[in-house]
Amino acid sequence: MKLSQILPNFKKNERSSFLGCSGSGKTTLAEMVMSIYEYSVVLDTKHDLDWKGYKVWYDLKKMIKNPAERNLYRPERGFERDPNFEIQTNLFEWIWHRKYTAIYIDEATQISTSTNICHSLFDLITRGRSRGISVLSGSQRPSGLKQEFLSESENIYCFQLRLPADKEKAYKFGNIDADLIEQKNFANNSKHYFIYSKNGAVTKPIILKR
Ligand SMILES: Nc1ncnc2c1ncn2[C@@H]1O[C@H](COP(=O)(O)OP(=O)(O)OP(=O)(O)O)[C@@H](O)[C@H]1O
Ligand SMILES: [Mg+2]
Repeated sequence: MKLSQILPNFKKNERSSFLGCSGSGKTTLAEMVMSIYEYSVVLDTKHDLDWKGYKVWYDLKKMIKNPAERNLYRPERGFERDPNFEIQTNLFEWIWHRKYTAIYIDEATQISTSTNICHSLFDLITRGRSRGISVLSGSQRPSGLKQEFLSESENIYCFQLRLPADKEKAYKFGNIDADLIEQKNFANNSKHYFIYSKNGAVTKPIILKR
């Protein structure tokens, strides 16, 4: 089954969160969703994405100066751990000014905790919509994420979650019924199944055939 068949109501200006345990298929699904966007930036926090059609950058300044339509940025050392968020601010402010851009953050806990996040990223998440900016993020540990990643997302793709704290975060801020999260975990043997929540309306478990 193709993405367009599964998600007929998906709109470009919406935000998305991909949740699920390690190896469940978050990044694979995110790549399909990101293919909808013409102008995009992928933040390859783990330096392991091999996405076709994206220009790979290691130097943020170079990317900002001469961006392609689709960009994959592998942040230099210090990007994640900088307490003042200086490099992150450069990236997210640039996206703010670029407008009409989608950004996908592959493992969002690499750059945000539940309490600490770059202000410019927070602005993109909470106010980017008016500028045509979509924030998409993936995480295997949503309990460690700033809640707005979930609460501002119209679309939540929830694969299997194991830890109670992660499940709790998904139902509290992702608007997914706790029973559904549990059911999904027991209903299928394959960890590639996910439930899709569109503004709180949740589908039965889905699997993508690629
Ligand atoms: N629907 C699917 N059917 C079969 N295999 C899949 C499916 N989705 C993903 N996979 C495979 O499962 C593996 C893990 O997928 P992926 O990297 O997308 O998971 P992830 O949730 O992003 O993992 P991680 O937490 O390690 O980043 C990959 O080898 C991928 O090809
Ligand atoms: Mg991944």
